[in-house]
Amino acid sequence: MDNLVLTGFMGTGKSTVGPLVADALRMPLVDTDTLIVQRAGISIPEIFARDGEAAFRQLERAVILELISECGRIIATGGGALINPQTRADVLRNNLVICLTAEPDVLRARLSGDSGRPLASQWEQVLAQRLPIYRSFSFCVDTSHHTPQQVAEEVAAIWRKQSP
Ligand code: S3P
Repeated sequence: MDNLVLTGFMGTGKSTVGPLVADALRMPLVDTDTLIVQRAGISIPEIFARDGEAAFRQLERAVILELISECGRIIATGGGALINPQTRADVLRNNLVICLTAEPDVLRARLSGDSGRPLASQWEQVLAQRLPIYRSFSFCVDTSHHTPQQVAEEVAAIWRKQSP
């Protein structure tokens, strides 16, 4: 396995858990949203507003292809990054994908009043469309009733087992 790819819907805790997993595994962490914002020089809501979601998805795919061309990192993706079937197939070829999940009530609490995520206001519809894809990943970790540290330990344990 080249990299550990941490994915999952908005609000499942990727940004909180990612640094803890990186500490546990002593691996560098990269976050696709952070890289996109750095490169675009504007925020994600600004990219969506100025250029549209399709443009954001192109940037996202390009960043992911670049990251998976190297090894040994934890790659935290935006929640929609692996919805593109081509990107999903490219990532699954040589990387371990671990998908964080959370129950709807937990997501509602975490996403309510969120202004930094362009799709947060429609999260229920977006989640319903994507659920089959999130569920298709071989490794899913539910974050609803666990501390970030517990989730990170579970993610790290999956990596250690799958990528000895
Ligand atoms: C998105 C999730 C966001 C970000 C963008 C789109 C999505 O990342 O990439 O707002 O389509 O689910 P987080 O999952 O880190 O919020």
